[in-house]
Amino acid sequence: AQQRRQYHEKVLDHYSRPRNVGTLDKADSSVGEGLVGAPACGDVMRLHIKVDPATQVISDVRFKTFGCGSAIASSSYLTELVRGMTLEQAGRVKNTEIAKELCLPPVKLHCSMLAEDAIKSAITNYYKKNPNSKPTNLAGR
Ligand code: FES
Ligand code: FES
Repeated sequence: AQQRRQYHEKVLDHYSRPRNVGTLDKADSSVGEGLVGAPACGDVMRLHIKVDPATQVISDVRFKTFGCGSAIASSSYLTELVRGMTLEQAGRVKNTEIAKELCLPPVKLHCSMLAEDAIKSAITNYYKKNPNSKPTNLAGR
């Protein structure tokens, strides 16, 4: 008989072989940190991005997630997604894109939201540390 699985195989793959686990040097001005939590369950995600100041491209990215399998898979997939993106592109990543890739069921949507929040928070932190790098064309948006 077909077994009902709680997690899609893509979630299990990221969960068992998470990509880009770890941290970067927070003291480095080219590193932005995002630290976010999901009020619904208390899971926590930390994301570090290293940005090339000249091009605004994310050259490295690491995560540490204290949370459920879907949250770990969402962060793992997020790191693959945003590496090589500009900050502007990464800022437009939506949780629905992550949820779709991982086939997350509705009750697990907030796990992918954690990943969207984490990248947004890391970008905000980077701009805070590098106020002059914030693109002027973002003003008034
Ligand atoms: Fe327990 Fe997310 S609710 S790990
Ligand atoms: Fe809360 Fe997954 S159950 S992040």
